[in-house]
Order: sequence, then C-alpha cells, then structure tokens
Amino acid sequence: MTKINRIGILTGGGDCPGLNAAIRGLGKSAIYEHGWEVVGIRDGYKGLVENRVVELGLNELSGILTQGGTILGTNNRVSPDRYLEGKTDSGDPIFVNAVDRCIATLEEHAIDILFVVGGDGTFTCTKPLIEAGFPCIGVPKTIDNDIVGTELTIGFTTAARIGTMALDRLHSTGNSHHRVMVCELMGRNAGWLTLSSGLASGADVILIPEIPFDMQKICDFVEERREGKSGFSIIACAEGAKPINGTTVVEKIDPTRADPIHLGGIGSVVANTIEERTGIESRITTLGHIQRGGEPAASDRVLATTFATAAIELARAGEMNKMIGLQDGHIATKDILSVANKQRLVPNNHRFVKAAKAVRTCFGD
Ligand code: F6P
Repeated sequence: MTKINRIGILTGGGDCPGLNAAIRGLGKSAIYEHGWEVVGIRDGYKGLVENRVVELGLNELSGILTQGGTILGTNNRVSPDRYLEGKTDSGDPIFVNAVDRCIATLEEHAIDILFVVGGDGTFTCTKPLIEAGFPCIGVPKTIDNDIVGTELTIGFTTAARIGTMALDRLHSTGNSHHRVMVCELMGRNAGWLTLSSGLASGADVILIPEIPFDMQKICDFVEERREGKSGFSIIACAEGAKPINGTTVVEKIDPTRADPIHLGGIGSVVANTIEERTGIESRITTLGHIQRGGEPAASDRVLATTFATAAIELARAGEMNKMIGLQDGHIATKDILSVANKQRLVPNNHRFVKAAKAVRTCFGD
C-alpha cells in the first residue's frame, strides 16, 4: 500500500462553482484526519508539466468555501501526453509528450498521490499518469453533469439554478412583448443543464442534444401558443441541440484545445428561423460563462465537501486510480480509466423528460 505523507491537488477543465469547496475539503481532511502535507498544482496539467506547485496549508485553505472558480487556476488545453511546446514557422502547433516532466514534478515535490478534480476530459488526461504507475484519485466536477459513474457532479446544481433564474427572468419580456425568447445554455453534448433549468422554470420548449428536433413542430407549437392567453413562448435550448438529420452548430474549432470543438450558435438559428417562418418577434440570450460563475449553491458546497472527504478516505484505504461518485444517493467509486473519455447523456425516457412532456413541454420531436 502506498505510504502517504504528502498529497497533490489539481483542478482541470473548465472552472465551476464548488471547486474551491472541493480543494478545501481535500486539504483540510488530509491535514486534520491524517496529518498529511498538501500542495496544489497551478493551472491543471499545464502547471504539472511546468513544475508550478504551491503549498496548501490551513491558511490557504481557509475562507475559500464560498468562492467561485478555483484558487489553483485551471486549464482545458494541456494533457501530460500533449503539451503545446511552441509553433512551427508556419504557425502549426508543436505538441510533445510531457509525461516524464509530470512525473519529475511529482517526485521533486515528494507527492505520493495526486487528487484530480475534473471532468471526463481531465480524467482522460489522467490516463497517461496512471499508465506510468502514478496513483491518482478523481473527484468529478462539471456544470454539464455528464460524467459516467456519478449521478451528480460538483457545479451542476449551481449552474442549473443560474439557468433557471435566467429563464424565469426572460418571462417578463416574453410576456410584455408577446415574443419568443430563446435562451442558449451550455452543457456540450449533454442536455442535463438545459433540461433541469427548463423544467424548473416551466420553459415551453426544451431542446437538448439527445432529442433532435423538427423546426416546423416548434414553429407550430409557438404559433398555437400565440393564439392562447399568454401569446409568448420561452425556449430553453442547449448549445449541443440539433435538428433531426442535422448537425450541431460549431462556433469555432481550436486545434490547441484538448476538445477542439467549441459549440455555440444554435439558439440564434432557432430564434431566426421561428421569426422567419411565423412572423413572431424572437430574441436570443446566450448565457455563456455566467452559468459557471459566482458562489456555489449550498448543495454544491455539501457535495464538494462530501466527495472530497470521501476521496481522502479512499486514498487512506489504498484504493488508487478511482473516481468518487454518487449512485442512488450513496457514495460510490469507479475506476478512473473506465469513466475517461465517456459521456453520460440524458436517456430519452428519463423521468425529467417524461415530467416535462406530461405538462405539455415541447421537445420538437
Ligand atoms: O464543460 C463545461 C463547459 O462549460 C461546457 O458546457 C462548454 O461547452 C465548455 O465548457 C466551454 O468551454 P470554454 O470555457 O473553454 O469556452
């Protein structure tokens, strides 16, 4: 069993509310429960390659529970086996395998185990370290809630609350101007964030990647609503939503990112098409990173602290290379390698979809 004296903490991928709560939970329980020393790696795997390590004592770990973002910084471009070293004369990126540099950093700082707070992309980046024999433990976070092996991720509840608040507020203008108000939410290829926010705010139409839509059905639906009492419609549209037989709308492709595809723009397509086909004035609001910002909701602080302290216990028990998660409301574990590079999507018959359909929410299908 690995003897633990000193642990490292790294946050990878996009920031989200609750990361600092997780860092605090990991650090404080490591210090208080086991007397381990704690260090943090700056800016995700980039800092591990570049040997940027900071001490995390009780001073650094205090007062951060309620703060958004991550005190360590994060990065969604660098993987240990794909580090951007520079560019060729013609401007093409030069990637190098930097696993040895990561291991050298871990050894130099006498880190016995690395705690990785991340999503499926970050866990995919953890793979080369595990394969090189370095023990890691995963703590799942993402506003997308799309990590296999856990029914809830740190950050999701806060983001869904922000999505709900935004959709609630769009009712004012929709109602006053008798407009169609489209709100584009994040979530990548998963519809959890849009589905939960849409269900919570009573959106009239919910468009998610897992249920491709027929544009004409949406137009017919909002026209029908125009004739009704309220006359307006609120549409919660996931950035990954797509028409039947169509493709997702890509805002840009950046080959230097671990996931080069940056989704965005489907909300405008939906709003413009509705206005063209029905003549109903339509507007688009894209929430963007507002969904990831600010202080974590109480439930995310609780989840982050629970996950973090359970992850420390996993390490103490010698269960390496596992990710902590929640299954049927209980703490569960999965091999990191079995959840890496996979996505947990919304099943078409999920209870949230059934509930929304039962109150006549249109999915465009
Ligand atoms: O995975 C979290 C997420 O916010 C997605 O919902 C979104 O598609 C993506 O990250 C945006 O990434 P970036 O912050 O790099 O623009």
